[in-house]
Amino acid sequence: MSDANNQKPSAEEAVSDKPLHDLKDMQTLVSLCKRRGFIFQSSEIYGGVNSCWDYGPLGIEVKLAVKESWWKAMTRLADDVEGLDASILMHPRVWEASGHVENFNDPLVDCKSCKARHRADHMKPVRELEAKLGHLPSLPEMEKALEGATCPACGKSGTLTTPRLFNMMFKTHMGPVADDANTVYLRPETAQGIFVNFRNVQETTRRKLPFGIAQIGKAFRNEITPGNFTFRTREFEQMEMQYFVTPGTDTEAFARWKEVRHQWHLSCGIRPNKLRFHPHGENELAHYAKQAEDIQYEFPIGWQEVEGIHNRTDFDLKRHTEFSGKSLAYTDEKNNKFIPYVIETSVGCDRFVLAVLCDAYRGNDERVVMQFHPDFAPYKVAVFPLMKKEELAGPARKFYEELRKDFRADFDVTGSIGKRYRRHEEIGTPFCVTFDFDSLNDQCVTIRHRDTMAQERIPMAKVRDYITDAFRNWKQA
Ligand code: GAP
Repeated sequence: MSDANNQKPSAEEAVSDKPLHDLKDMQTLVSLCKRRGFIFQSSEIYGGVNSCWDYGPLGIEVKLAVKESWWKAMTRLADDVEGLDASILMHPRVWEASGHVENFNDPLVDCKSCKARHRADHMKPVRELEAKLGHLPSLPEMEKALEGATCPACGKSGTLTTPRLFNMMFKTHMGPVADDANTVYLRPETAQGIFVNFRNVQETTRRKLPFGIAQIGKAFRNEITPGNFTFRTREFEQMEMQYFVTPGTDTEAFARWKEVRHQWHLSCGIRPNKLRFHPHGENELAHYAKQAEDIQYEFPIGWQEVEGIHNRTDFDLKRHTEFSGKSLAYTDEKNNKFIPYVIETSVGCDRFVLAVLCDAYRGNDERVVMQFHPDFAPYKVAVFPLMKKEELAGPARKFYEELRKDFRADFDVTGSIGKRYRRHEEIGTPFCVTFDFDSLNDQCVTIRHRDTMAQERIPMAKVRDYITDAFRNWKQA
């Protein structure tokens, strides 16, 4: 567009030049999410249920866009990955084979005075001992370290119980009789649905190694200390991919997937300085892993894992072969028969949505601008008739109805144009288009860019291409 078309904001649209800062604390985001309909506390009218959250009208758009972005990158644009949607309830033996019945435990202590529950391994004396020993202390070692320790909730000392292991899988019963023979688990990771379908997928698609299977789905963990909004919850969604390789090529595949996954986070507009890798030390490795690295994001609560990349070796397929009695071996072109190794990429969908929300946030005491990458903005464009009058609102609505065939759009007629800009900045709408009296004659509208606040007057007929080009060439703020 030519400079001649650049418009200056009117007095009511102008904003002060106070700088916008990053998100400083989670509570600010929790309030914004509730106020604007991104995320609500679950069962709020009953006082809420701890660690469960509901996505509202705007939040579901962000979440669906995250899933779409991951699915597209991991299946449609990948030459060697197939999709799957396995059930949440699985045969109980799956969880014996996977090691979850035996190993998926966290050490728990209760405070006898205030009844608060704590992860023993997260308590200061245990963390200090862990640093000294170089590995996670055993239960008796934790007990010793916690002798006389103070409860972080009530501050009393000597009130903590002996640490005990707590299995984090949710149990329920299959069918009408609630006895031990009918116990089933809500899956604590989606990965096992992929392992038990390895043969089905490989045979039906006639895939040769290496290839992957991707899945998005719910997982459940009875976390002892959930919290920090949607960061750690008891019900969450995972986006996982298991990549099956010939043993000996696993280290190379691990390095490749680390890079591919890092690039995906960047392609979602997450600022590069907010992402880093965290390799797991010996004492951090899960029971199945030979090598693991986390992709961490710098949340307001500090650097935390968003995604794990694991070399799971042949652990899972070997164990399922053993426990099911069905071979999950693979035979290659040279007739070598072996159990494939697995490189896993596992990102929490809800936790990544939280990273997207934290990263987009810019605010001061006057206004908030959610600077989403356009892929994740709940609305891509909003159309405002300058006034409610039908002679303007009628044609403006027609224009909006055309535009929404291509972009998720909002039509907003209430309040001053300045107020409407503020409302849409706060939910991250990349473009606002104002239809005024001149538009009736010159068939042009004013389009305003969320991040630069620059305004241009362009023909209505060009708005669709203008937005499409802008999204294609998007430079994240
Ligand atoms: N299959 C491997 C696996 O489940 P994980 O590191 O336990 O590995 C993978 O979980 C990802 O799932 C984490 O990086 C995190 O994003 C997400 N996640 C795990 N527990 C979670 C919880 N309680 N709440 C929200 N997200 C969680």
